[in-house]
Amino acid sequence: MDAVQTQSDANATFTPRVFSGIQPSGGLTLGNYLGAIRRFVDMQESGVETLYCMVDLHAITVWQDPDKLRHATRELAAGYIAAGLDPARSMLFNQSQVPEHAQLAWIFNCVARMGWLNRMTQFKDKAGKNRENASVGLFTYPNLMAADILLYHATQVPVGEDQKQHVELTRDIAIKFNNDFGVEFFPVPEPVIEGVATRVMSLRDGTKKMSKSDPSDLSRINMTDDAEAIAKKIRKAKTDPDALPSEAAGLEGRAEARNLVNIYAALAGQNVDQVLSDMGGKQFSEFKPMLADLAVAKLSPISEEMGRLMQDTAAIDAVLADGAARAREISAPILKRTYEIVGMVG
Ligand code: TYM
Repeated sequence: MDAVQTQSDANATFTPRVFSGIQPSGGLTLGNYLGAIRRFVDMQESGVETLYCMVDLHAITVWQDPDKLRHATRELAAGYIAAGLDPARSMLFNQSQVPEHAQLAWIFNCVARMGWLNRMTQFKDKAGKNRENASVGLFTYPNLMAADILLYHATQVPVGEDQKQHVELTRDIAIKFNNDFGVEFFPVPEPVIEGVATRVMSLRDGTKKMSKSDPSDLSRINMTDDAEAIAKKIRKAKTDPDALPSEAAGLEGRAEARNLVNIYAALAGQNVDQVLSDMGGKQFSEFKPMLADLAVAKLSPISEEMGRLMQDTAAIDAVLADGAARAREISAPILKRTYEIVGMVG
């Protein structure tokens, strides 16, 4: 072990680097946009090195029609760009084009413990009662996510609330790897879960997360929805009969009201108190059209730009190829070094 532990490992300090990803497993939702993509853009603007991935290998842990997967991957890339990610400043690529992700995931399959993965709530939710029939990939999914992050020695991972447990597992894997091999090779990354929209809820049930896999399309706003669809979904969103309170405490026990206020705040770039000081006392019949107008004003330019970008899929593919080439310049030496640390000859 001493032979491979160099001084630079022991003294490693890690330059800030951001990694995050989204599954191309259907369309982008308002939850993805507010909980993740907007944060991705903020971090790009902060001048840190940023890598944003379309995690197609994760998507296939549940069945994906190949043509739809291709479409969703390109549409997600279009969504990233339309929302403000600049391919010249952020590396945008699909996971399968950087083979080191799968290679490092294998190493982590041998680091992570069954007991750790057994505790993952996303696996329990997604596998449901039919656990025996879930793919093995769905179970080991968090190890691949750890590989995504650690392959670039990323230090910050912007995600929504639901991914916190996976980032914590990533930290455990980094620590165990470093301990097992007596190195300080992998950083211990931080989840970045910020803003008022870290958990956007279903429009039909304020206790459930807004999700692209919800069977009801009325439960979510898709980034490709037109103005009419957005207005209709907000009009039909579940609420309670009371007026909006003028302070945040008045949202206690009112999950649906809280969710709509959070969405308004996130879209308006305000905090909840600011929104309620303006809106307190209003009935939902008055608030909902205001929310719909705001959502349309903020989201339509993005969906229009996505549509425009999707006219030229060759240009999108070129962005992804360029992003993958730049990502590999970082990932290849890190994987090589990992193999050396583990004791692979070559
Ligand atoms: P995914 O594809 O389910 O979601 C992508 C991002 O969107 C956030 N998100 C939400 N945020 C707020 N409210 C919601 N309703 C909502 N729904 C989704 C998610 O928290 C996430 O940040 N495992 C990840 C993808 C992944 C990844 C990674 C993320 C793979 N490798 C490495 C970070 C780093 C996932 O399934 O996200």
